[in-house]
Amino acid sequence: MPAHVQDICENSCDPVHFQFVHGNDAIPESRVEIDHDGRTMHLHSDMQRADHPSQLHAITYSPGFAMVRNTYGPGAEMIMYNSPQPIDRNTTLMRWTLIVRREIEDLAGDEVMKGITDGIGDDYPIWANKVHRRRPVFCKGDETLVTFRKWVRQFYITSQDKREIA
Ligand SMILES: [Fe+2]
Repeated sequence: MPAHVQDICENSCDPVHFQFVHGNDAIPESRVEIDHDGRTMHLHSDMQRADHPSQLHAITYSPGFAMVRNTYGPGAEMIMYNSPQPIDRNTTLMRWTLIVRREIEDLAGDEVMKGITDGIGDDYPIWANKVHRRRPVFCKGDETLVTFRKWVRQFYITSQDKREIA
């Protein structure tokens, strides 16, 4: 993908874009929680207005690794291990592993896979043309995105870190 690894990681923490980019008929109710140690982030989203309604729980361990559990109904879950690898500032190798139980492969099968690939197609032109703004403008409804951006800072080396290492 022609994108910074953070842009891909923050996609699911940006509930507003599900309506305006992915065509959901409403912004999903979402909340982000950070574990007490500050390292692990949990995103909960009510994706009832998506083409394939689900409850989403993403456990994000770093900008480069997350486990996403989508629950489509009782016992009907799909787990996605998202392991993007940054290649350079604007290139990321996407690697996903998706697991569903055999009993729900019809429910979480080809149509859900098509929804995922269509979703990537929606995001792609934005990722490919996104620019970095040091002080971005946020809007009402961006609270989860702001929390994500504060959380993700810990994974970058600052100028002071570089001086201490030298
Ligand atoms: Fe997206």
